[in-house]
Amino acid sequence: MTWFLLLLLLLLLHQPVPSFSKNHRHLRKQMRHFNKPAIKSIKSPDGDIIDCIRISHQPAFDHPLFQNHTIQMRPSYNPEGLLFDTNKLSSIGRKSRPMMSQLWHTKGKKCPQGTIPVRRTKVDDVLRAGSVKHYGKKKNNKHSTVFVPQSSEPDLITQSGHQHAIAYVEGDKYYGAKATINVWEPQIQETNEFSLSQIWILGGSFASDLNSIEAGWQVSPDLYGDNNTRLFTYWTSDAYQATGCYNLLCSGFIQVNNEIAMGASISPISSYHGSQYDISILIWKDPKEGDWWMQFGDGYVLGYWPAFLFSYLSDSASMVEWGGEVVNTAEDGQHTTTHMGSGHFPNEGFKKASYFRNIQIVDGSNNLRPPKEIGTFMEQSNCYNVQLGRNDDWGNYFYYGGPGRNPNCP
Ligand SMILES: *[C@@H]1O[C@H](CO)[C@@H](O)[C@H](O)[C@H]1NC(C)=O
Ligand SMILES: *[C@@H]1O[C@H](CO)[C@@H](O)[C@H](O)[C@H]1NC(C)=O
Repeated sequence: MTWFLLLLLLLLLHQPVPSFSKNHRHLRKQMRHFNKPAIKSIKSPDGDIIDCIRISHQPAFDHPLFQNHTIQMRPSYNPEGLLFDTNKLSSIGRKSRPMMSQLWHTKGKKCPQGTIPVRRTKVDDVLRAGSVKHYGKKKNNKHSTVFVPQSSEPDLITQSGHQHAIAYVEGDKYYGAKATINVWEPQIQETNEFSLSQIWILGGSFASDLNSIEAGWQVSPDLYGDNNTRLFTYWTSDAYQATGCYNLLCSGFIQVNNEIAMGASISPISSYHGSQYDISILIWKDPKEGDWWMQFGDGYVLGYWPAFLFSYLSDSASMVEWGGEVVNTAEDGQHTTTHMGSGHFPNEGFKKASYFRNIQIVDGSNNLRPPKEIGTFMEQSNCYNVQLGRNDDWGNYFYYGGPGRNPNCP
């Protein structure tokens, strides 16, 4: 076995290096920052390579702030009452095997214990971003934005071209949020646009000190180089200026789970008038350590954002938003045909319109409960809309989305 590995290593070392320009060679060197040595690599059918890297090698630990950080392998508390060892998830704690999974699972179910799956960054990913510095970070208006209800003035957080269709709560202290989010593959007209569906956990004055934790699914040709629907996270502690990034592309989120890769494609996807698939996302603040944890599906505890990353969120969130966001570049002076959600309006209902169901918040007693006084917001309801509802099965839910350009949204 050892000999085999040694031989493999020699073979790898002797592979001809692609003839990159000097700049590209420099770029490859810099990419070691993103791509850590893999214990095992899995090739996904979508062209991604999923590297299994040691937990302690993840990018977060490159940062001086994290040098003395003791990694938390599990939260001290879970608002759903599930408390388990992340290494034993498949035997205890999980209620049922989630239907949703990631495309790379067809080529290998999980990474070995003590490692985490990380989507390998390709040279092209960085080239599309323009530089290593910009990759996975704020770049022009490539990142998501936040709807600010108190202000009618556009400010630095709400950028032109961004359109939302969301539900929100504010005016209380929130310690987390949950939703089950219907998964689609919205069509994107321009490669520098995106379409996403996510939860926002927000704190701060909505000025330059905004703290935000975001998670959901997104289609972003610029970030990933294709039109696939991918699981993602984002965070910032200064309103998208200097801090924060997607997934594990900067120091921030610490992953402990060996089955789910940030930024990897979700499969299967819902189809119009056909099968519907959804993912559950729960984000909550650990009452003991103060870290913000994320759970995906039915019991995949993915990891956490350490409390010290944030100012306001190190206490609690002041607002939670759920819903969709797209960028409309208004190419040729017209609204683009970029879809939000299924690309159909809320009034079409189940199997046609996209939904968030069982939306809940975590209250001051660390319990999940239905949110009170849910507001909705959209910039142009003729382009993308949102419609609230409530029933026994789905609790508080909403349909949202739309096709973008149409006769009423020119
Ligand atoms: C880490 O610990 C060392 C030794 O105690 C200390 O000098 C250093 O300032 C600490 N770094 C951080 C970022 O807290
Ligand atoms: C993504 O979709 C657009 C049209 O919506 C298409 O033009 C483009 O070729 C697709 N890109 C890839 C990588 O499949």
